[in-house]
Amino acid sequence: MSRADIPTTADLTEAAHEAASRCGVDLAACAGDNPHRSPVNGESLGGIAWSDAADVDAAIERSREAFLQWRTVPAPVRGAVVKRFGELLSEHKADLGTLVSLEVGKITSEAQGEVQEMIDICDLAVGMSRQLYGTTSVSERPGHRLMETWHPLGVVGVISAFNFPVAVWSWNTAVALVCGNTVVWKPSEQAPLCAWAAASLLAQALAEAGAPAAVSQVLVGGPSIGEAVVEHPGVALLSATGSTRMGQQVGPRVASRFGRSLLELGGNNAAIVAPSADLDLALRGIVFAAVGTAGQRCTSMRRAIVHSSLVDELTGKLAEAYERLPIGNPLEDGTLVGPLVGEAGFTAMQDALQAAVDQGGTVVTGGERVLQDAADGAYYVKPAIVRMPSQTEIVATETFAPILYVLTYDTFTEAIALNNDVPQGLSSSVFTQDQAEGEIFTSAEGSDCGIANVNIGTSGAEVGGAFGGEKQTGGGRECGSDAWRGYMRRATNTINYSGELPLAQGVDFSPA
Ligand code: UN1
Repeated sequence: MSRADIPTTADLTEAAHEAASRCGVDLAACAGDNPHRSPVNGESLGGIAWSDAADVDAAIERSREAFLQWRTVPAPVRGAVVKRFGELLSEHKADLGTLVSLEVGKITSEAQGEVQEMIDICDLAVGMSRQLYGTTSVSERPGHRLMETWHPLGVVGVISAFNFPVAVWSWNTAVALVCGNTVVWKPSEQAPLCAWAAASLLAQALAEAGAPAAVSQVLVGGPSIGEAVVEHPGVALLSATGSTRMGQQVGPRVASRFGRSLLELGGNNAAIVAPSADLDLALRGIVFAAVGTAGQRCTSMRRAIVHSSLVDELTGKLAEAYERLPIGNPLEDGTLVGPLVGEAGFTAMQDALQAAVDQGGTVVTGGERVLQDAADGAYYVKPAIVRMPSQTEIVATETFAPILYVLTYDTFTEAIALNNDVPQGLSSSVFTQDQAEGEIFTSAEGSDCGIANVNIGTSGAEVGGAFGGEKQTGGGRECGSDAWRGYMRRATNTINYSGELPLAQGVDFSPA
C-alpha cells in the first residue's frame, strides 16, 4: 500500500526554514558546501556549513572553562535549567518533530515521540538533580566516618546517530548537565537542522538562567570531527551511539588515553513467541518493533523465534499485516513506513535478503523498492519477512533495515539459546501467558540482553529504565535508574573527628 504524494524540495525547504526559525535557528546563516539531502524525496535541501577539526579544540577549551563555573552551581539550580529546556521542547514539539521527519524520514508520530522522549528525560533529570545520593558507611576506627561524594567529570562528548538524531543527545545532555558536566555534541551529519534547533532551545534556557553558553555546544561535521572529539584528552566521558564497528574504533581509543566511554552500539533483537501467547498482542508488538522507524532503531526487532505449533499461523498473519502497511510520505497522517535514510541502507537490505536466500531462507513478503517513480532519489521499501531454517550468519548480523527473520523452536530452553546466540545484546522480549516462562526469561538463565521484556516488543523503551546492552552492544547505560553515576566520579571520604590517629588494619606506626 504505497502513497505517491511525495513532497517537493520547495515544500520541504520551506517547512524546514519555518520550523528552524521558530526554534531560533536562521538557516541562511548555516549555508555551506556540504551535502544535505532529505530522505523524504532524496533531493538536496541546500548545502550546509561544517565545523572542522580545529574547531574541536576551541570548543573543548570553551567547554572546560564553562565547566569550572557550571560545577559550582547547585545541582537543583542546574535542574531548573533542564526543566526550562523541557518546557521549550514542549512548546516546539511539532517544529522539532518536523525537522526530524524531514532530515531522517521518521513518520510524524514517531518523530514527535522522539521529542516527547526528550521532554521525558528532562523531567527525569530534574528529579535526579535533587537525588544525586552518596552512601555513608561505618568505619572500623572510633571517631571516624566513611562517606561517598559524587562529582561531575568535566567535558562530556556526545556522538549521536541519524536514527534518533536529537533524543539520544538529550538523554546524555539532560543527565550530564544536572550532574554538573558540560557537553560538546557531534550529531549525525544527516541531521544538522534538528541538532541546531534542539541546541538552540537549550541555549535559550541557559541564557535565561545566566549560565555560560559554552555549557552546551554543537559541532556539525563529518567523521574527522567525531575522531577529534574521541582523541581529545579534554573529553572526560565520550558517549557514542552507532554501529558495533564504530564502537570498536572508539572504545579502545578513548581507553588508551584513560578516558571513559559509554557505548550504545548494535542490536539484534528478538521476540520469542510461546504457545500460550496472546497472538493478537504478539502480532501488534512484532509489527511495531520490526517495522517502526523503517527498521532503523537500534532496538528494532530483527528476529521472531516462534514455537513450531504456531509459526505458520503467525507468519501468515504477519504477512497479511505487512500487506496493509501504508508506505510513503512520513509527514502525512496515517503513514506508518517512511523511507530508509539512504541508498546504503537499501543496498544493505538487498544484500542481506540475497544472503538469507543463499543460506536457505524463503522471503515470505517484501524487500522491494516502491515509489521510485514519485521520488527516484528516495529509498522507500516494503518491509520484509524471511523464514529461516536456522540462525545462520546473516541472521546473526545486524542489518539496519526492516527485515524480520522468522525462526522456529520446540523447547523454551532452545528459544532462549537462540535469543542469546548472537554477538549483540541490546533488547529482547517474550510473548507468553505462562508466568514461569516470563520469570525464566528475565532471570539469570534467561535473556542475556540489557533489555528483556515480557508481552511487549523490543523497541520503544521508556526513559525511566537504564537503557543499553551487553556484548557487542557495548555495555553502556543511559537514561534512568542509576545511569547518572556514569556521568560522575566517586570520591571516598574518611572523616576523622576523634582527635587521635588510629591506623586502619590495626597498623602500629608509632616512633619508639
Ligand atoms: C536507538 O535506536 O538508538 O527503545 C534508541 C527505543 C527508543 C530508543 C532507541 N526509546 O526504541
